[in-house]
Amino acid sequence: MEKIFEVKNLSYQVGDKKILKDINLEIEKGKYVTFVGPSGSGKSTLMRILASMITATSGEVRFDGKKIETYEPTNYRQRVSYAFQQPTLFGKSIRDNLEFPFEVRNSNFDEEKVIDYLKMVNLDASYIDKSVNDVSGGEKQRIALIRNLLFPPEVLITDEVTAGLDVENKRIVHKMLQEFNQQGLTILRVTHDESEISASHDKITIKNGEVIS
Ligand SMILES: Nc1ncnc2c1ncn2[C@@H]1O[C@H](COP(=O)(O)OP(=O)(O)OP(=O)(O)O)[C@@H](O)[C@H]1O
Ligand SMILES: [Mg+2]
Repeated sequence: MEKIFEVKNLSYQVGDKKILKDINLEIEKGKYVTFVGPSGSGKSTLMRILASMITATSGEVRFDGKKIETYEPTNYRQRVSYAFQQPTLFGKSIRDNLEFPFEVRNSNFDEEKVIDYLKMVNLDASYIDKSVNDVSGGEKQRIALIRNLLFPPEVLITDEVTAGLDVENKRIVHKMLQEFNQQGLTILRVTHDESEISASHDKITIKNGEVIS
């Protein structure tokens, strides 16, 4: 199997605090891998490194065979997309957020496509013109998630993206992500959700900044 990520002897340190210690792992293309472990163990820090938002203090990360730092950042972000633990919407309206992926690719806003994506996460067309201040936390999470997926990346990193959702909306998001995964999207998911953990086939456990299983 082809490896999409190879992480070798990766450490991340801030001051004298060692947040990640000698991490080694490989992720195969097309997998749906779940990262688990106690709060504060370093999961989000590792995801931020894989998303190239911060840089490891030692060791290396290879994406698609090449060192992560050799990629041009804007291009890398289109290939590896990180759905944040605390999603932020920018600008004034939902439209501002969902127009953005088109703008960065110099393409015209496709309102029908956006409406289809909103529907996939159980939101109707009226959301496009709502103010970012008038949507709930769970709606924000789903809008941020489709902002990551309107132009599917090769890897999607989801950091506790279902944490604020009710059972029904969790089910909807799981189904959508599973469909993207079946179409070839590699997904790295961080979660504390027991039902997500028990349903996952590929699990990596991080504890005290180390991979323990
Ligand atoms: N820039 C930083 N400076 C200092 N400490 C940091 C920094 N970033 C993260 N940490 C610390 O590193 C540890 C790991 O944080 P991280 O956010 O990766 O944990 P996590 O596993 O995602 O936890 P949770 O499950 O609560 O989201 C925590 O103790 C955190 O306080
Ligand atoms: Mg975290």
